[in-house]
Amino acid sequence: MESIIDKIKKLKSERNAIILAHYYQDPSIQDIADFLGDSLALAQAAQKTNADVIVFCGVHFMAETAKILNPEKIVVMPDINAGCSLADSAPPDKFKEWVEKHPGHTVISYINCSAEVKALSDIICTSSNAEKIIRSVPEDTPICFAPDKYLGSYLIKKTGRQMVLWNGTCQVHETFSEIELIKLQKKYPNALVLAHPECPDNILHYADYIGSTSGIIKYATDSPNKEFIIATEEGIIHQLRKKNPDKIFYPLPGLNGCACNQCPHMRVHTLEKLLLALENLEPRIEIDEELRKKALRPLQKMLELS
Ligand code: 13P
Ligand code: SF4
Repeated sequence: MESIIDKIKKLKSERNAIILAHYYQDPSIQDIADFLGDSLALAQAAQKTNADVIVFCGVHFMAETAKILNPEKIVVMPDINAGCSLADSAPPDKFKEWVEKHPGHTVISYINCSAEVKALSDIICTSSNAEKIIRSVPEDTPICFAPDKYLGSYLIKKTGRQMVLWNGTCQVHETFSEIELIKLQKKYPNALVLAHPECPDNILHYADYIGSTSGIIKYATDSPNKEFIIATEEGIIHQLRKKNPDKIFYPLPGLNGCACNQCPHMRVHTLEKLLLALENLEPRIEIDEELRKKALRPLQKMLELS
């Protein structure tokens, strides 16, 4: 009998589709993806693809970004309900008021935001290029940064630039436990701590390396060290182990040892939903053309600077 993997592969070629997936996806989805990446690499892959259909296994703002860059292509998600607490923390009407309260500021928005918020921003950034984007703004121009306050505070320290911060957080990264981190460090004293900059300062404080998901994978792969504590969504451990079978990775748990180091939004996709999305070419991402054009400008600025 034909397996679900065979059915997906067959339909994918019939539809001339490409499967793009983020590192926080379930391992079964990561293993069937044509391209895996961080937010920047996924946006770049969406920009370059010749496929007619993009199946986006990530969260809504990522698939929306793919559609903004590819209005002529069909962009589907296995489950359209894959949201993001950071994107949800910035409702467009409140964000507009905030921008209007800061005239003369350059508005830099993390890619984890809606198309409406992108359209109200001057430049988009991801965790891979945020530092470079901030440094591209003239020294005497004040900056508003949204929606992640922890990423924003980290970038203020890193660049020495004062920025007005929006008060948003990632529900996964803000829940990592400092006590569990100390316990892991005691148990594995040779392990290096690799953290995502969406973590609060009390976690970043222990990090030997801070970077995007791709940055974390590159750092661990290039490092001669053999043990690592990973302070980001634990889906990334699958790629870390695949690329480094001789190394040991310890996922940092959330508070009280809960499984909240798995993003509930990223994890809604399944192989069954992926197959259905390919069969039906639904659910699709659709964006009003005026809004798309406005959201495209700051995204293009980012891609030019990256
Ligand atoms: P990156 O993969 O760009 O580091 O972002 C992490 C993230 O939060 C995705 O939602
Ligand atoms: Fe959003 Fe956090 Fe989930 Fe990333 S891990 S999609 S930032 S809620």
